[in-house]
Amino acid sequence: MNRKNIVLCGFMGCGKTTIGSLLAKKTGMAFIDLDKYIEKQEHKTVSEIFAESGEAHFRMLERNAAAELAAKNGLVIAAGGGTLTFPENVDAFRSNGCRIVLLDISPEVAAQRLRHDTTRPLLNRPDKDEYIKKLYEQRLPLYREAAGLVVNADASPMQICRDIIAEL
Ligand code: S3P
Repeated sequence: MNRKNIVLCGFMGCGKTTIGSLLAKKTGMAFIDLDKYIEKQEHKTVSEIFAESGEAHFRMLERNAAAELAAKNGLVIAAGGGTLTFPENVDAFRSNGCRIVLLDISPEVAAQRLRHDTTRPLLNRPDKDEYIKKLYEQRLPLYREAAGLVVNADASPMQICRDIIAEL
């Protein structure tokens, strides 16, 4: 495997963090979760950033973090669910030769996995399931456009890692 970063994208709940850390172990690369990277820099959780400063501010922090990480090598990066829906972030990763992988799950599986979750500010709303479906439909074409590889993320984390390694 070459040392160009691998960037995992996909909808909230698709397993970017779980699969990313496993993939990093298997490839000997370093793992970075983009949301955790931002939280560490800001000394605040993503929920606190959204609540105190709004989504636009979070997106600016996310853009800066994506540009910083894109400039490094040898990383497996778990992007946030929204990161690769912004062309400037896709461009930043692509321009450094990062390999972008979409972890594809259905909106039904996402809704199931996120049922009890309270850490995603975008989903703290009464019409959560319908909103997941709507957001998923808006985002899927953007994820597909960004990604050079699409893997079925309904399989086990081990299998998904094997699929990614075999394809890259
Ligand atoms: C977001 C997804 C979250 C986090 C933030 C916004 C999104 O990351 O970046 O809550 O826009 O889909 P995860 O996909 O890791 O939950």
